[in-house]
Amino acid sequence: MIPGSNILLGVTGGIAAFKAAELVRRLKERGHDVRCVMTRSAEAFITPLTLEVLSGHPVYREEYLQPDNSGEELHISAAEWADLLCVAPVTAHTLARLALGLADDFLTTTALAFSGPLVLAPAMHTGMWQKESVQGHLEVLKGRSAHVVGPVVGALASGETGMGRMADLESIVLEVELALGDRDLVGKTVLVSAGPTQEPLDPVRYLSNRSSGRMGFALAEAAARRGARVVLVAGPVDLETPPGVSRADVVTAREMRDTINELALDADVIIMAAAVSDFRPSEVSDKKLKKRAGMPQLSLESNPDILAGLEDLAPHALRIGFAAETGDTLEEARGKLEAKNLHFIIANDVSRSDIGFDSEHNEVTVLGPARAPVFFSRQSKRALAVKLMDLFSEALKKREGAPAPTRG
Ligand code: C5P
Repeated sequence: MIPGSNILLGVTGGIAAFKAAELVRRLKERGHDVRCVMTRSAEAFITPLTLEVLSGHPVYREEYLQPDNSGEELHISAAEWADLLCVAPVTAHTLARLALGLADDFLTTTALAFSGPLVLAPAMHTGMWQKESVQGHLEVLKGRSAHVVGPVVGALASGETGMGRMADLESIVLEVELALGDRDLVGKTVLVSAGPTQEPLDPVRYLSNRSSGRMGFALAEAAARRGARVVLVAGPVDLETPPGVSRADVVTAREMRDTINELALDADVIIMAAAVSDFRPSEVSDKKLKKRAGMPQLSLESNPDILAGLEDLAPHALRIGFAAETGDTLEEARGKLEAKNLHFIIANDVSRSDIGFDSEHNEVTVLGPARAPVFFSRQSKRALAVKLMDLFSEALKKREGAPAPTRG
Protein backbone atom coordinates (compact mmCIF):
# COMPACT_ATOMS: atom_id res chain seq x y z
CA MET A 1 0.00 0.00 0.00
CA ILE A 2 1.08 3.53 -0.67
CA PRO A 3 0.54 5.46 2.56
CA GLY A 4 -0.71 9.01 2.34
CA SER A 5 -2.47 8.76 -1.01
CA ASN A 6 -5.01 11.30 -2.26
CA ILE A 7 -8.42 9.73 -2.48
CA LEU A 8 -11.37 11.35 -4.16
CA LEU A 9 -14.54 9.84 -2.74
CA GLY A 10 -17.65 10.13 -4.88
CA VAL A 11 -20.95 9.75 -3.02
CA THR A 12 -24.17 9.16 -4.95
CA GLY A 13 -27.79 9.06 -3.89
CA GLY A 14 -28.57 5.82 -2.14
CA ILE A 15 -29.41 5.04 1.47
CA ALA A 16 -25.84 3.76 2.00
CA ALA A 17 -24.62 7.36 1.40
CA PHE A 18 -24.67 7.91 5.17
CA LYS A 19 -21.89 5.31 5.47
CA ALA A 20 -19.63 7.59 3.43
CA ALA A 21 -19.03 9.60 6.63
CA GLU A 22 -17.48 6.59 8.36
CA LEU A 23 -15.62 5.64 5.17
CA VAL A 24 -13.93 9.07 5.12
CA ARG A 25 -12.88 8.56 8.74
CA ARG A 26 -11.46 5.09 8.06
CA LEU A 27 -9.52 6.21 5.01
CA LYS A 28 -8.06 9.10 6.98
CA GLU A 29 -7.10 6.75 9.82
CA ARG A 30 -5.08 4.80 7.25
CA GLY A 31 -3.10 7.97 6.51
CA HIS A 32 -4.86 9.04 3.29
CA ASP A 33 -6.07 12.50 2.40
CA VAL A 34 -9.72 12.42 1.33
CA ARG A 35 -11.80 14.89 -0.67
CA CYS A 36 -15.45 14.24 -1.38
CA VAL A 37 -17.67 14.79 -4.40
CA MET A 38 -21.42 14.56 -3.93
CA THR A 39 -24.12 14.21 -6.53
CA ARG A 40 -27.26 16.27 -6.04
CA SER A 41 -29.27 13.20 -5.00
CA ALA A 42 -26.62 12.22 -2.43
CA GLU A 43 -27.37 15.48 -0.64
CA ALA A 44 -30.84 14.18 0.11
CA PHE A 45 -29.23 11.44 2.24
CA ILE A 46 -26.24 13.14 3.91
CA THR A 47 -25.23 16.76 4.23
CA PRO A 48 -22.13 18.15 2.53
CA LEU A 49 -21.20 19.70 5.88
CA THR A 50 -20.77 16.24 7.45
CA LEU A 51 -18.31 15.17 4.77
CA GLU A 52 -16.61 18.57 4.80
CA VAL A 53 -15.94 18.39 8.55
CA LEU A 54 -14.76 14.78 8.43
CA SER A 55 -12.56 15.19 5.36
CA GLY A 56 -11.26 18.64 6.33
CA HIS A 57 -11.91 19.91 2.78
CA PRO A 58 -14.82 21.63 1.06
CA VAL A 59 -17.05 19.11 -0.70
CA TYR A 60 -17.25 19.31 -4.48
CA ARG A 61 -20.88 19.70 -5.52
CA GLU A 62 -22.65 19.96 -8.80
CA GLU A 63 -22.44 23.76 -8.98
CA TYR A 64 -18.63 23.60 -8.68
CA LEU A 65 -18.50 22.78 -12.38
CA GLN A 66 -18.24 26.49 -13.04
CA PRO A 67 -14.65 27.76 -12.82
CA ASP A 68 -14.16 29.49 -9.46
CA ASN A 69 -13.02 33.11 -9.30
CA SER A 70 -9.42 32.08 -9.90
CA GLY A 71 -10.47 30.68 -13.28
CA GLU A 72 -9.40 27.20 -12.08
CA GLU A 73 -11.47 24.39 -13.50
CA LEU A 74 -12.11 22.42 -10.35
CA HIS A 75 -13.06 19.12 -12.02
CA ILE A 76 -9.67 19.13 -13.76
CA SER A 77 -7.71 20.05 -10.64
CA ALA A 78 -9.66 17.47 -8.59
CA ALA A 79 -8.82 14.79 -11.17
CA GLU A 80 -5.16 15.83 -11.15
CA TRP A 81 -5.04 15.84 -7.34
CA ALA A 82 -6.48 12.33 -6.91
CA ASP A 83 -4.42 9.14 -6.90
CA LEU A 84 -7.65 7.13 -6.85
CA LEU A 85 -11.35 7.70 -7.37
CA CYS A 86 -13.70 5.65 -5.21
CA VAL A 87 -17.46 5.92 -5.65
CA ALA A 88 -19.30 4.52 -2.61
CA PRO A 89 -22.16 4.01 -2.83
CA VAL A 90 -22.51 3.98 -6.58
CA THR A 91 -26.13 3.84 -7.82
CA ALA A 92 -27.34 2.08 -10.98
CA HIS A 93 -27.74 5.54 -12.53
CA THR A 94 -24.14 6.61 -11.89
CA LEU A 95 -22.81 3.20 -12.98
CA ALA A 96 -24.55 3.80 -16.30
CA ARG A 97 -23.20 7.35 -16.58
CA LEU A 98 -19.65 6.18 -15.85
CA ALA A 99 -19.91 3.30 -18.32
CA LEU A 100 -21.23 5.58 -21.06
CA GLY A 101 -18.76 8.37 -20.35
CA LEU A 102 -21.45 10.97 -19.68
CA ALA A 103 -20.28 14.21 -18.11
CA ASP A 104 -23.40 15.81 -16.71
CA ASP A 105 -22.32 16.69 -13.17
CA PHE A 106 -19.17 17.29 -11.15
CA LEU A 107 -18.61 13.60 -10.33
CA THR A 108 -18.93 12.22 -13.85
CA THR A 109 -17.00 15.13 -15.38
CA THR A 110 -14.16 14.57 -12.92
CA ALA A 111 -14.31 10.81 -13.58
CA LEU A 112 -13.86 11.50 -17.30
CA ALA A 113 -10.88 13.74 -16.63
CA PHE A 114 -9.33 11.18 -14.26
CA SER A 115 -7.06 8.40 -15.51
CA GLY A 116 -6.06 6.57 -12.29
CA PRO A 117 -7.61 3.55 -10.54
CA LEU A 118 -11.38 3.53 -10.04
CA VAL A 119 -13.04 1.64 -7.16
CA LEU A 120 -16.80 1.17 -7.26
CA ALA A 121 -19.01 -0.01 -4.38
CA PRO A 122 -22.48 -0.54 -5.89
CA ALA A 123 -25.57 -0.51 -3.68
CA MET A 124 -29.13 -0.95 -4.94
CA HIS A 125 -32.23 -3.08 -4.75
CA THR A 126 -31.79 -6.74 -5.80
CA GLY A 127 -34.06 -6.39 -8.81
CA MET A 128 -32.09 -3.42 -10.11
CA TRP A 129 -28.77 -5.15 -9.47
CA GLN A 130 -29.85 -8.16 -11.50
CA LYS A 131 -30.96 -6.11 -14.52
CA GLU A 132 -29.04 -6.89 -17.70
CA SER A 133 -28.42 -3.21 -18.28
CA VAL A 134 -26.77 -2.77 -14.86
CA GLN A 135 -24.67 -5.90 -15.28
CA GLY A 136 -23.73 -4.79 -18.78
CA HIS A 137 -22.50 -1.40 -17.54
CA LEU A 138 -20.57 -3.15 -14.81
CA GLU A 139 -18.86 -5.44 -17.32
CA VAL A 140 -17.88 -2.43 -19.43
CA LEU A 141 -16.35 -0.75 -16.38
CA LYS A 142 -14.55 -3.92 -15.29
CA GLY A 143 -13.23 -4.23 -18.83
CA ARG A 144 -11.66 -0.81 -18.27
CA SER A 145 -10.01 -2.15 -15.08
CA ALA A 146 -12.47 -0.69 -12.57
CA HIS A 147 -12.27 -2.47 -9.20
CA VAL A 148 -15.74 -3.49 -8.09
CA VAL A 149 -16.34 -4.36 -4.44
CA GLY A 150 -19.69 -5.88 -3.43
CA PRO A 151 -22.58 -5.61 -3.26
CA VAL A 152 -23.37 -8.24 -0.65
CA VAL A 153 -26.48 -9.97 0.62
CA GLY A 154 -28.08 -8.15 3.54
CA ALA A 155 -30.90 -5.89 4.72
CA LEU A 156 -32.01 -3.47 2.00
CA ALA A 157 -33.74 -0.10 2.24
CA SER A 158 -36.97 -1.76 1.05
CA GLY A 159 -37.04 -3.81 4.25
CA GLU A 160 -36.25 -7.01 2.32
CA THR A 161 -33.09 -9.03 2.61
CA GLY A 162 -31.21 -9.72 -0.58
CA MET A 163 -28.26 -8.99 -2.81
CA GLY A 164 -27.58 -5.30 -3.20
CA ARG A 165 -26.34 -4.01 0.14
CA MET A 166 -23.12 -1.99 -0.10
CA ALA A 167 -19.98 -3.97 0.82
CA ASP A 168 -18.77 -3.42 4.37
CA LEU A 169 -16.39 -0.52 4.90
CA GLU A 170 -13.43 -2.76 5.71
CA SER A 171 -13.76 -4.40 2.28
CA ILE A 172 -14.00 -1.03 0.54
CA VAL A 173 -10.88 0.30 2.31
CA LEU A 174 -9.11 -2.92 1.41
CA GLU A 175 -10.12 -2.65 -2.25
CA VAL A 176 -8.90 0.96 -2.31
CA GLU A 177 -5.54 -0.07 -0.89
CA LEU A 178 -5.23 -3.04 -3.23
CA ALA A 179 -6.02 -0.75 -6.17
CA LEU A 180 -3.44 1.79 -4.96
CA GLY A 181 -0.99 -0.99 -4.30
CA ASP A 182 2.64 -0.64 -5.08
CA ARG A 183 3.59 -2.82 -8.05
CA ASP A 184 6.78 -3.51 -6.12
CA LEU A 185 6.83 -7.25 -6.81
CA VAL A 186 6.98 -6.98 -10.60
CA GLY A 187 9.65 -9.41 -11.79
CA LYS A 188 9.45 -11.49 -8.59
CA THR A 189 8.10 -15.01 -8.28
CA VAL A 190 6.07 -15.88 -5.21
CA LEU A 191 5.23 -19.49 -4.42
CA VAL A 192 2.36 -20.04 -1.99
CA SER A 193 0.97 -23.29 -0.61
CA ALA A 194 -2.53 -23.40 0.83
CA GLY A 195 -5.16 -25.73 2.21
CA PRO A 196 -4.82 -29.17 3.76
CA THR A 197 -3.29 -32.30 2.32
CA GLN A 198 -5.21 -35.59 2.32
CA GLU A 199 -3.50 -38.90 3.01
CA PRO A 200 -5.58 -41.83 1.74
CA LEU A 201 -6.26 -44.86 3.85
CA ASP A 202 -8.47 -46.57 1.29
CA PRO A 203 -10.42 -45.30 -1.76
CA VAL A 204 -12.99 -43.50 0.45
CA ARG A 205 -11.14 -42.53 3.62
CA TYR A 206 -8.24 -40.25 4.36
CA LEU A 207 -6.33 -38.46 7.13
CA SER A 208 -6.26 -34.70 6.86
CA ASN A 209 -5.81 -31.40 8.70
CA ARG A 210 -8.42 -28.71 9.21
CA SER A 211 -7.74 -25.86 6.80
CA SER A 212 -9.99 -23.78 4.53
CA GLY A 213 -7.06 -22.48 2.46
CA ARG A 214 -8.36 -18.90 2.75
CA MET A 215 -5.22 -17.38 4.28
CA GLY A 216 -2.96 -18.81 1.55
CA PHE A 217 -5.36 -17.78 -1.23
CA ALA A 218 -5.52 -14.24 0.20
CA LEU A 219 -1.71 -14.06 0.26
CA ALA A 220 -1.53 -15.28 -3.33
CA GLU A 221 -4.05 -12.60 -4.34
CA ALA A 222 -2.16 -9.86 -2.48
CA ALA A 223 1.15 -10.86 -4.11
CA ALA A 224 -0.41 -10.95 -7.60
CA ARG A 225 -1.91 -7.49 -7.11
CA ARG A 226 1.60 -6.18 -6.45
CA GLY A 227 2.72 -7.51 -9.79
CA ALA A 228 4.42 -10.78 -8.74
CA ARG A 229 4.22 -13.95 -10.80
CA VAL A 230 2.35 -16.13 -8.33
CA VAL A 231 2.10 -19.91 -8.27
CA LEU A 232 -0.36 -21.34 -5.79
CA VAL A 233 -0.01 -24.99 -4.82
CA ALA A 234 -3.37 -25.92 -3.35
CA GLY A 235 -4.53 -28.94 -1.43
CA PRO A 236 -8.22 -29.93 -1.74
CA VAL A 237 -10.14 -26.71 -1.05
CA ASP A 238 -13.34 -25.14 -2.30
CA LEU A 239 -12.02 -21.72 -3.33
CA GLU A 240 -11.74 -19.82 -6.58
CA THR A 241 -8.29 -19.06 -7.94
CA PRO A 242 -7.53 -15.34 -7.43
CA PRO A 243 -7.07 -13.30 -10.63
CA GLY A 244 -3.60 -13.48 -12.16
CA VAL A 245 -2.52 -16.52 -10.11
CA SER A 246 -1.46 -19.88 -11.60
CA ARG A 247 -2.62 -22.83 -9.60
CA ALA A 248 -1.43 -26.42 -9.23
CA ASP A 249 -3.79 -28.74 -7.36
CA VAL A 250 -2.35 -31.54 -5.24
CA VAL A 251 -3.78 -34.03 -2.76
CA THR A 252 -1.08 -35.64 -0.65
CA ALA A 253 1.89 -34.14 1.20
CA ARG A 254 4.29 -35.96 -1.12
CA GLU A 255 2.58 -34.53 -4.19
CA MET A 256 2.75 -31.10 -2.57
CA ARG A 257 6.45 -31.57 -1.82
CA ASP A 258 7.25 -32.68 -5.38
CA THR A 259 5.38 -29.74 -6.90
CA ILE A 260 6.87 -27.21 -4.50
CA ASN A 261 10.40 -28.53 -4.84
CA GLU A 262 10.16 -28.20 -8.60
CA LEU A 263 8.83 -24.63 -8.42
CA ALA A 264 11.04 -23.49 -5.51
CA LEU A 265 14.12 -23.14 -7.69
CA ASP A 266 12.64 -20.06 -9.41
CA ALA A 267 10.95 -18.54 -6.36
CA ASP A 268 12.00 -15.30 -4.66
CA VAL A 269 9.47 -15.80 -1.86
CA ILE A 270 8.01 -19.08 -0.59
CA ILE A 271 5.03 -18.93 1.73
CA MET A 272 3.96 -22.26 3.21
CA ALA A 273 0.44 -21.56 4.41
CA ALA A 274 -0.66 -25.16 3.81
CA ALA A 275 -1.64 -27.37 6.71
CA VAL A 276 0.45 -30.35 5.68
CA SER A 277 -0.44 -33.69 7.27
CA ASP A 278 2.53 -34.70 9.34
CA PHE A 279 1.64 -38.41 9.05
CA ARG A 280 0.21 -40.77 6.49
CA PRO A 281 -1.07 -44.32 6.73
CA SER A 282 1.83 -46.71 6.06
CA GLU A 283 -0.41 -48.85 3.94
CA VAL A 284 -3.11 -47.74 1.54
CA SER A 285 -5.73 -50.34 0.73
CA ASP A 286 -6.87 -50.30 -2.88
CA LYS A 287 -10.27 -51.65 -1.74
CA LYS A 288 -12.62 -50.07 0.82
CA LEU A 289 -11.84 -51.46 4.28
CA LYS A 290 -14.88 -53.43 5.46
CA LYS A 291 -16.39 -53.15 8.93
CA ARG A 292 -16.98 -56.89 9.03
CA ALA A 293 -13.21 -57.50 8.77
CA GLY A 294 -12.88 -56.04 12.32
CA MET A 295 -11.31 -52.83 13.59
CA PRO A 296 -8.36 -51.92 11.33
CA GLN A 297 -5.04 -51.28 13.02
CA LEU A 298 -3.66 -48.03 11.66
CA SER A 299 0.03 -47.72 11.30
CA LEU A 300 1.38 -44.29 10.37
CA GLU A 301 4.61 -42.98 8.96
CA SER A 302 6.02 -39.46 8.76
CA ASN A 303 5.51 -37.19 5.81
CA PRO A 304 8.43 -35.12 4.56
CA ASP A 305 8.76 -31.65 6.09
CA ILE A 306 8.48 -29.58 2.92
CA LEU A 307 9.51 -26.26 4.43
CA ALA A 308 12.53 -27.59 6.29
CA GLY A 309 13.79 -29.08 3.02
CA LEU A 310 13.64 -25.76 1.20
CA GLU A 311 16.65 -24.29 2.97
CA ASP A 312 18.99 -26.34 0.79
CA LEU A 313 16.83 -26.22 -2.32
CA ALA A 314 16.08 -22.50 -2.37
CA PRO A 315 18.62 -20.83 -0.09
CA HIS A 316 18.15 -17.53 -1.94
CA ALA A 317 14.37 -17.37 -1.35
CA LEU A 318 12.60 -15.63 1.49
CA ARG A 319 11.07 -18.57 3.35
CA ILE A 320 7.92 -18.05 5.40
CA GLY A 321 6.00 -20.55 7.50
CA PHE A 322 2.83 -20.64 9.54
CA ALA A 323 2.45 -22.03 13.03
CA ALA A 324 -1.09 -22.98 13.97
CA GLU A 325 -0.85 -23.62 17.70
CA THR A 326 -3.11 -24.35 20.64
CA GLY A 327 -0.67 -23.97 23.53
CA ASP A 328 2.07 -21.41 24.07
CA THR A 329 1.70 -20.05 20.55
CA LEU A 330 4.73 -17.76 20.48
CA GLU A 331 7.11 -20.21 22.11
CA GLU A 332 6.11 -22.97 19.70
CA ALA A 333 6.39 -20.64 16.72
CA ARG A 334 9.85 -19.44 17.75
CA GLY A 335 10.99 -23.07 17.95
CA LYS A 336 9.77 -23.70 14.37
CA LEU A 337 11.31 -20.48 13.07
CA GLU A 338 14.68 -21.71 14.30
CA ALA A 339 14.29 -25.41 13.54
CA LYS A 340 13.22 -24.77 9.92
CA ASN A 341 15.59 -21.77 9.57
CA LEU A 342 12.90 -19.45 8.27
CA HIS A 343 12.88 -15.71 7.69
CA PHE A 344 9.37 -15.29 9.10
CA ILE A 345 6.83 -17.39 10.94
CA ILE A 346 3.23 -16.37 11.38
CA ALA A 347 1.73 -17.67 14.58
CA ASN A 348 -1.95 -18.01 15.26
CA ASP A 349 -3.94 -19.51 18.07
CA VAL A 350 -6.25 -22.09 16.53
CA SER A 351 -8.00 -22.90 19.79
CA ARG A 352 -10.14 -19.77 19.26
CA SER A 353 -13.30 -20.18 17.20
CA ASP A 354 -13.52 -16.52 16.05
CA ILE A 355 -10.27 -16.67 14.06
CA GLY A 356 -8.24 -19.25 12.16
CA PHE A 357 -9.53 -22.48 10.63
CA ASP A 358 -12.98 -21.97 9.11
CA SER A 359 -13.14 -18.26 9.74
CA GLU A 360 -12.86 -15.37 7.26
CA HIS A 361 -10.80 -13.63 9.98
CA ASN A 362 -7.46 -14.09 11.60
CA GLU A 363 -5.33 -12.56 14.32
CA VAL A 364 -1.62 -13.32 14.17
CA THR A 365 1.79 -12.53 15.56
CA VAL A 366 4.72 -12.48 13.17
CA LEU A 367 8.20 -13.44 14.27
CA GLY A 368 10.98 -12.46 11.95
CA PRO A 369 14.14 -10.47 11.63
CA ALA A 370 12.80 -7.69 13.88
CA ARG A 371 13.58 -8.42 17.50
CA ALA A 372 10.05 -7.71 18.71
CA PRO A 373 7.13 -9.82 17.51
CA VAL A 374 4.71 -7.90 15.26
CA PHE A 375 1.06 -8.27 16.29
CA PHE A 376 -1.85 -7.95 13.84
CA SER A 377 -5.24 -7.65 15.54
CA ARG A 378 -8.33 -9.59 14.35
CA GLN A 379 -9.23 -8.63 10.79
CA SER A 380 -10.30 -10.25 7.53
CA LYS A 381 -7.76 -12.65 6.03
CA ARG A 382 -7.70 -10.55 2.85
CA ALA A 383 -6.86 -7.36 4.78
CA LEU A 384 -4.26 -9.22 6.81
CA ALA A 385 -2.68 -10.67 3.67
CA VAL A 386 -2.07 -7.17 2.30
CA LYS A 387 -0.26 -6.15 5.50
CA LEU A 388 1.77 -9.36 5.63
CA MET A 389 2.85 -8.81 2.01
CA ASP A 390 3.97 -5.27 3.01
CA LEU A 391 6.23 -6.89 5.59
CA PHE A 392 7.62 -9.55 3.22
CA SER A 393 8.20 -7.15 0.38
CA GLU A 394 10.05 -4.79 2.74
CA ALA A 395 12.25 -7.70 3.86
CA LEU A 396 12.86 -8.71 0.25
CA LYS A 397 14.04 -5.20 -0.60
CA LYS A 398 16.36 -5.16 2.43
CA ARG A 399 18.00 -8.47 1.72
CA GLU A 400 18.41 -7.93 -2.02
CA GLY A 401 22.06 -8.67 -2.58
CA ALA A 402 22.59 -9.78 1.04
CA PRO A 403 23.82 -13.37 1.66
CA ALA A 404 21.34 -16.08 2.64
CA PRO A 405 20.99 -16.71 6.38
CA THR A 406 23.23 -19.35 7.96
CA ARG A 407 22.50 -21.37 11.02
CA GLY A 408 23.96 -19.85 14.21
O1 C5P B 1 3.07 -28.57 11.08
P1 C5P B 1 3.99 -27.47 11.55
O2 C5P B 1 3.44 -26.72 12.70
O3 C5P B 1 5.42 -27.91 11.74
O4 C5P B 1 4.00 -26.41 10.36
C1 C5P B 1 4.84 -25.30 10.38
C2 C5P B 1 5.13 -24.87 8.97
O5 C5P B 1 5.78 -25.93 8.27
C3 C5P B 1 3.91 -24.51 8.12
O6 C5P B 1 4.27 -23.39 7.33
C4 C5P B 1 3.68 -25.74 7.25
O7 C5P B 1 3.13 -25.38 6.00
C5 C5P B 1 5.08 -26.30 7.09
N1 C5P B 1 5.09 -27.77 7.01
C6 C5P B 1 5.69 -28.37 5.93
N2 C5P B 1 5.75 -29.75 5.83
C7 C5P B 1 5.22 -30.51 6.80
C8 C5P B 1 4.62 -29.91 7.92
C9 C5P B 1 4.56 -28.54 7.99
O8 C5P B 1 6.18 -27.67 5.04
N3 C5P B 1 5.27 -31.83 6.69
